[in-house]
Amino acid sequence: MKTLRTIAEVRAELAGRGEIGLVPTMGAFHEGHLSLIRAARAENEVLVVSLFVNPAQFDEQADLAAYPRDEARDAHLSEEAGVDVLFAPPYTEMYPPCHETWVDVERLGADLEGAHRPGHFRGVATICLKLFNIVHPRRAYFGQKDAQQVAVVRRLIEDLNLEVELRALPTVRDPDGLALSSRNARLSREEREQALALPSALATGAEAFRLGRDAVAATRAQLNGLTEDYVAVLHTDNATLLTAAVRVGETRLIDNVLLKGEL
Ligand code: PAJ
Repeated sequence: MKTLRTIAEVRAELAGRGEIGLVPTMGAFHEGHLSLIRAARAENEVLVVSLFVNPAQFDEQADLAAYPRDEARDAHLSEEAGVDVLFAPPYTEMYPPCHETWVDVERLGADLEGAHRPGHFRGVATICLKLFNIVHPRRAYFGQKDAQQVAVVRRLIEDLNLEVELRALPTVRDPDGLALSSRNARLSREEREQALALPSALATGAEAFRLGRDAVAATRAQLNGLTEDYVAVLHTDNATLLTAAVRVGETRLIDNVLLKGEL
C-alpha cells in the first residue's frame, strides 16, 4: 500500500491502472468503514481509500477540533484490508488559499441534516466531486448510516453527469444495536446506555409504519429523554427512510432505518 499526500502523486500512481474503487472517509476507522473497504476490495481491480477530515463540512468548530484522528492505525487497517492507495492529503492540497468553487445540492442538501448543520452538504458535495475528479473511480462506496449523504451524492452524480456508480452498503451496528460511529468514542458509559434508545425508537417507528401508523410519532414517544434534533421520514428517488438526529450530552448522533425500497 502507498500513502500519498498530493493530487499529482495519486494521478501518476493510478494512470493506466484498471477499474478503481474509491472509499471516501474521514478516518478513525471502525467496522462500518471496513465493511465499505472490503466490498470495494472485492469489486475493483484497484482500491483507493481517502482519509481527509474535511473542515468545509463541519458547521461547529468544536466538533471539528474533537474529531478523532489516528492515521497510523487507519493506515495499518487499510494495509491489512488490501488497500492499494491511501490518499491522505493535507488541508492546503484540497483547499489552496485561492479555492472558491463550491457545489450545492440545493433542495436535498438544505433539508434535515442540512437544516441543522448549515453548509454541511455543500462541504460534502464539494469534497466528493473533488475526490471523484482526482481518483476517477468506477465505483464509490458509502454507508446507509448517512442516508441523506447517499441521497445528496447520488443527486450530485446524476445532475453533473459523473461516470461513477454509487454503491450504498448497510449500516454496521454493535451487537446491542447502536450504529457504529467515530463519535461514539466520545460517549461516557452512561451516555452510551442512553444512546441505545435511538436505534430502538427507530425500530419501534418502523414497526408502526408497517402497521399503518405514524412512524415519526411512534419514534418520538420512545426517545427516552434523548434531545431530538429531528425525527423525519426521508423520501429519496428509490427509498423511504425513517431518520433521526439526537444529542446525548455533548455528542450528536444520527441513525435511520429503511421503510421502503433500497437506498
Ligand atoms: P466518515 O464519517 O468517515 O464515513 C465514511 C463512510 O463510512 C461514509 O460513507 C459513512 O456513511 C460510512 N459509515 C460510517 N458509519 C458507518 C456504519 N456504522 N455502517 C456503515 N457505514 C458507515 O461520511 C464521511 O466520512 C464524509 O462525509 C465523507 C463522505 C468522507 C466526505 O468527507
